[in-house]
Amino acid sequence: MRLRLSILGSTGSIGRQTLEVVDAHPDRFEVVALCARSNSDLLARQAARYRPRLVVLADPTERPEEWAPKVLTGPDGLLTAATLDEADIVVIALAGQAGVRPTLAAAAAGKCIALANKESVVCAGELLMRVASENGATIRPIDSEHSALWQLLELPHRREELDHVIITASGGPFRTAPLERLETVTPAEALAHPTWRMGPKVTVDSATLMNKGLEIIEAHWLFDLPFHLIDVLIPPQSIVHALVSFRDGCTIAHAAYPDMRVPIQYALLYPERPSGVVRPLDFAALGTLEFFPPDPLRFPALELARQVGLAGSTYPTVLSASDEVAVQAFLEGRIRFTEIVPLVQHVVELHRPLCGPLTLDAILEADQWARQVTEREIARRADRR
Ligand SMILES: NC(=O)c1ccc[n+]([C@@H]2O[C@H](COP(=O)([O-])OP(=O)(O)OC[C@H]3O[C@@H](n4cnc5c(N)ncnc54)[C@H](OP(=O)(O)O)[C@@H]3O)[C@@H](O)[C@H]2O)c1
Repeated sequence: MRLRLSILGSTGSIGRQTLEVVDAHPDRFEVVALCARSNSDLLARQAARYRPRLVVLADPTERPEEWAPKVLTGPDGLLTAATLDEADIVVIALAGQAGVRPTLAAAAAGKCIALANKESVVCAGELLMRVASENGATIRPIDSEHSALWQLLELPHRREELDHVIITASGGPFRTAPLERLETVTPAEALAHPTWRMGPKVTVDSATLMNKGLEIIEAHWLFDLPFHLIDVLIPPQSIVHALVSFRDGCTIAHAAYPDMRVPIQYALLYPERPSGVVRPLDFAALGTLEFFPPDPLRFPALELARQVGLAGSTYPTVLSASDEVAVQAFLEGRIRFTEIVPLVQHVVELHRPLCGPLTLDAILEADQWARQVTEREIARRADRR
């Protein structure tokens, strides 16, 4: 039996690499749904090649009528793809807030979810884990650090024997740049990631380390880990993705070449580990593996995200949404690189969380609020210049 995949965000970095994993094991997979926002050229080519039953274009520029037996347009089509009866695994490779509703819908439908979209865990972690557990859904992380943690925490141990876990960060392109140089870095420089090929938002987040801050919150929810047990280290080579330390003094590391097809394949074929996608790690050829603690002055996003994670409620949604707007403004040349994190912090400080248990409505409301306030603050700064 071939595993039937519904891929939300198939035209993005993770979506395209998911299809490369499919290409590497054509006898193992069938693609039953493909979804994108507006990249109709690529989506049409993917539909012609993989022949899914369903194609969704969330923000259509044309009506892709003849691409598949069923074609949906508009954001609600993503919910259909996320809950498709025919899908064995739903891959959520959407970027940003757009992933929250489809991930919650897949969880409510009891699906097996291969989850790359970190915003759905960051913003809705409390709700998502509850809905998933109530409906028998499983979440297999695709983010490389969380895939590594998943594999390490599956090793036999008692929870009380766990001392702490470490997720790693490459440090991005400005890890050693003089601090004053950060004032003038351009979007092109921020997008030139030294080790990973990723979409623009997550690449800029890797340069500020906001990405790692969001991943601390993600690790907290996915593995039920208290925040004080989650540390971050920078190994610039991006070979070690996570480490788990036990009370007996042993630390176990997960290592692989930095290639997202490794965690994607693991999430799709768990617990199998077939060859064919990435060459085995050659330790002898690696040379030095270094580890540095992140400099809090250079990377204030880490502590901000940790505090936001601890505060919970709608704060993580505000952090995530405000960062999305700020990163876009930086990419459009409207704010400087060094303004991203202080701007997001300011918006977080202005936020008053909604009372009561976390709901989807509360998340969507906080998201809208954060986007409007961040845009307003960007406009104010522009007026002052
Ligand atoms: N890339 C990585 O290596 C990596 C690693 C770890 C985690 N992640 C996480 O994985 C997620 C995806 O990242 P990415 O780098 O693959 O992003 P990306 O390259 O920007 O791709 C995003 C995908 O989502 C679609 N999309 C975006 N907004 C949408 C909307 N409103 N409605 C419907 N579709 C929408 C895009 O469609 P269009 O092409 O039509 O715009 C595209 O297919 C993010 O949460 C990221 O943090 C990524």
